[in-house]
Amino acid sequence: MLEIRNLQLEFRSDQQAVRAVDGVSFSIGPGETLGLVGESGSGKSVTALSIGRLLRTPPAFYAGGEILLNGRDVLKASNRELRELRGRGVSYIFQEPGVSLNPVFRVGAQIKESLRLHRPQAATEAEVVRLLQGVGIAAPEMRVKSYPHEISGGMQQRVMIAMALAAEPKLLVADEPTTALDVTIQAQILALLKDVQQRLGMSLLLITHNLGIVGQMADRVAVMYAGQIVETAPAQELLRRPLHPYTRALMQAAPRLGAEGGRLANIPGSVPRPGAMPFGCRFHPRCAMARPECSVQQPTLAVVEDGRQVRCPYWNSP
Ligand SMILES: Nc1ncnc2c1ncn2[C@@H]1O[C@H](COP(=O)(O)OP(=O)(O)OP(=O)(O)O)[C@@H](O)[C@H]1O
Ligand code: SF4
Ligand SMILES: [Mg+2]
Repeated sequence: MLEIRNLQLEFRSDQQAVRAVDGVSFSIGPGETLGLVGESGSGKSVTALSIGRLLRTPPAFYAGGEILLNGRDVLKASNRELRELRGRGVSYIFQEPGVSLNPVFRVGAQIKESLRLHRPQAATEAEVVRLLQGVGIAAPEMRVKSYPHEISGGMQQRVMIAMALAAEPKLLVADEPTTALDVTIQAQILALLKDVQQRLGMSLLLITHNLGIVGQMADRVAVMYAGQIVETAPAQELLRRPLHPYTRALMQAAPRLGAEGGRLANIPGSVPRPGAMPFGCRFHPRCAMARPECSVQQPTLAVVEDGRQVRCPYWNSP
């Protein structure tokens, strides 16, 4: 369905080029949910936005790699192919529904516009109502007439999901879809996402800081650090037994997994900026297991067991 191979993404200015994504590879199968986790600034959003080529170029520049969506390379697609691919290929929901919805149009009109763009033959009032019903909005015939500011944050996020689903995408990218919502609404939105995913057989790329959400939603997980993937594993195995020192540190920083406290707490130090990557292993200045070699040699992402991948040659050392 989706296969990203060795993606290299730079942000260029007159003064410099910084590499925000450096050699990222992962795939998502039909109907599968991949959780993408990592601290702020690790490159999750820019990786996700690259799938629909939504980053402005310049400053963004694709320096290498392939993004295959249904077998077609997004990075080589023409403008016409891109229009088709955005929507029917991949749709997005973001953290702040209030920001993504247009305040001056009624929600019904906005969903209809999404239909008109991606499934013109279905751009009817009845389909808008059906979509709103599908995301659990009560009295949808009334709601089509509401403006975004007249409905709650949770309901706004439901509207965003309905807009994304209007295109009937093969892949839904949800970038921190519940972070801005309170915990009860969070649970409802996640349950809704899971439900529509199963109903429609979509693939889901779920970006989150919350390991509890990963455990609840994801089949597999990719952990990102400083523009690279440092570990991939089936979700339950990763939560049970994280192998990379960074993943372990993340888990130790999240003591009450699954509870509200599942949100990642800080580990000492911070993610290096793209223009200032440390030599050798990018995690070495913060790694509890670092040894002298770590500041010299950059480790590769290697298969270690049962298809798990780890970017640390010392993961199994005492
Ligand atoms: N338009 C841009 N120009 C220059 N640098 C950018 C731009 N967009 C993102 N970056 C840089 O790319 C890096 C990765 O950013 P990204 O937004 O993908 O992080 P993230 O993992 O999604 O973080 P968060 O969890 O906070 O959302 C950051 O260092 C960021 O400053
Ligand atoms: S390579 Fe070294 S610094 Fe990097 S994660 Fe492994 S032990 Fe830590
Ligand atoms: Mg982000």
